[in-house]
Amino acid sequence: MRIAVPAETDANEARVAATPETVKKLIGLGADVVVQAGAGTGSGITDADFEKAGAAIAADAAATVAGADVVLAVRRPTSASLAGVTHGAAVLAIMDPYGQHDAVLDLAHANIQAFAMELMPRITRAQVMDVLSSQANLAGYRAVLDAAAEYGRAIPMMMTAAGTVPAAKIFIMGVGVAGLQAIATARRLGGVVTATDVRPATKEQVESLGAKFLAVEDEEFKQAQTAGGYAKEMSKEYQAKQAALTASHIAKQDIVVTTALIPGRPAPKLITADMVASMRPGSVIVDLAVERGGNCELARPGEVVVTDNHVKIVGHLNVAGRLAATASQLYAKNLFAFLETLIDKESKALKIDSEDELVKATRLTADGAIVHPSFAAA
Ligand code: NAI
Repeated sequence: MRIAVPAETDANEARVAATPETVKKLIGLGADVVVQAGAGTGSGITDADFEKAGAAIAADAAATVAGADVVLAVRRPTSASLAGVTHGAAVLAIMDPYGQHDAVLDLAHANIQAFAMELMPRITRAQVMDVLSSQANLAGYRAVLDAAAEYGRAIPMMMTAAGTVPAAKIFIMGVGVAGLQAIATARRLGGVVTATDVRPATKEQVESLGAKFLAVEDEEFKQAQTAGGYAKEMSKEYQAKQAALTASHIAKQDIVVTTALIPGRPAPKLITADMVASMRPGSVIVDLAVERGGNCELARPGEVVVTDNHVKIVGHLNVAGRLAATASQLYAKNLFAFLETLIDKESKALKIDSEDELVKATRLTADGAIVHPSFAAA
């Protein structure tokens, strides 16, 4: 069994899908591992590190994937870049399949079994394979550090001989995995932290991290969490009440970090241009939802916008990738944990059980067709 790790091709992608640690484990499963030269550079891993772990280094992408039974990647590879893999090869990546029907169909036609890691069910058995959690946790942490770096003042309260510096007020909007880590990070830095979400379960989580919870707690709020643990899109009436509640609060904040998402929908708009205009000069907003349309009306993907009233709105892309070495370490572990379930220990070959709930949830393509019910229709 040959496992290939090509270099990522997106200019914004510094992560890599394997580390020396996971290469060793893959070899332990009886596989040969081939890594493309330079694949680990953005994550601080040299070719020599991979070689020491037992991998072979291939000069280019074509040589890396040639004859591969498994390809590990961060982002969805194109079918062209996978030419030369074995028939039915498994490709594990963050496939980002929404609205990408043609690209997914191309993978099907190339006889690839594409697994979308981000569709992994959030059940106990699959926690170790949960790429959304491993990466969102880092994004939440990094968002607060990015905010602190853009903010021209200190975060903690400081009592010095030259005077007292007040603690920064930090507001976290959306308290999923990223938001919880953002709260914890903001608290560690000494900020005065408040947070909001539409799911009632978050109230206790926020308070247990030592932050104050702020939300419109009406009947709709009590029903806002789906069985899967995600948020529903809220009604126009709720959104208006939420905006009224948060507007006066945002005006008093030094830093706002937004992380609010709704699966399969554009990110909810939580911060209007008027709210930004109400903030003090020097305040910072970090919008972690910018790649999904943004929580702040004025955020722009990949930009740091400075408004007329000198508020900075940070819209970095791939925020987890801004901590590439750590992100790769955790992502590679997620991939290994899942791949291990797809390999037969005896024959040391791929053995994919179509009835396994993890396979059903994540496999997009097989046998020349799109097999995932959510993506089968154009
Ligand atoms: P997400 O990335 O989909 O959304 C981030 C947050 O935004 C969520 O907390 C959501 O409620 C919130 N949000 C949505 N609309 C909002 C609005 N209009 N205003 C304010 N906030 C809004 O969520 P994530 O981080 O993927 O977590 C979703 C759930 O999954 C959580 O309950 C989390 O604890 C749970 N989870 C469970 C795991 C497991 O059991 N294995 C692993 C990871 C997460």
